[in-house]
Amino acid sequence: MIDKDSGLHIPEHVGIIMDGNGRWAKKRALPRSVGHKFGAQNFRKITRYISKTGVKVLTLYAFSTENWKRPLEEVSALMSLFKQYLVDSLTDFREDDIKVVFIGDKSAFDPKLRELIQESEEVAKDRKGMLLNIAMNYGSRDEILRAVKMIANDVKEHGLDPESITQNDIESRLYTAGLPDPDLIIRTGGEFRLSNFLLYQSAYSEFYSTETLWPDFHEEEFDKAIMEYNQRNRRFGGV
Ligand code: FPP
Repeated sequence: MIDKDSGLHIPEHVGIIMDGNGRWAKKRALPRSVGHKFGAQNFRKITRYISKTGVKVLTLYAFSTENWKRPLEEVSALMSLFKQYLVDSLTDFREDDIKVVFIGDKSAFDPKLRELIQESEEVAKDRKGMLLNIAMNYGSRDEILRAVKMIANDVKEHGLDPESITQNDIESRLYTAGLPDPDLIIRTGGEFRLSNFLLYQSAYSEFYSTETLWPDFHEEEFDKAIMEYNQRNRRFGGV
């Protein structure tokens, strides 16, 4: 087990694209929704483990702005899982002092899910442990567009001078305002793409892709990603 005392450099902010639930189920001749169920169980378990490793911020991609295109049956199964696992993790995450925040456009969710989201954030707001950002109905392009609209409004209504706009003005209007950029982005399921996840924030993130499907991404798999991260030479555009 990796922890603060293992002598390794622990990334401050880790992002994870949890991919491969469908293939995991297919391999077992099970419906895709069962893959998501196991994926959701893993979400609960691995989050608790990561919170003990010294990672300060964990951002998990649970549902993208594009995932609504999936068959209605699958979207409904995912929404039910979100509800169930949010309730279950209210207790777990309290024990681990994990602070939960949701990023993305929550207005698209049904009232029950919105209520649960609000409750999960409210009960966790004073916690001092790891910050868990759950990206739901999140898309980076949408996030950037939202920031651009806020800036345009400040130009129009509040006399903001376009020439004075800085990167900081953009960053402070993203969902991740005030947080460090992700140091490491992990994608399970073998693909090498960001799929509209933290596009602005990942300018200098290290990318780690593993063939392991999300329901099988257990503690040792996370440790492997950290070992690999420790081999990387981060130059941030310098030499
Ligand atoms: C991608 O696998 C996974 C998702 C779209 C859903 C991820 C959600 C969870 C793991 C549940 C998390 C639960 C909470 C409460 C936040 P895929 O369906 O694209 O897999 P495939 O590429 O094999 O088809």
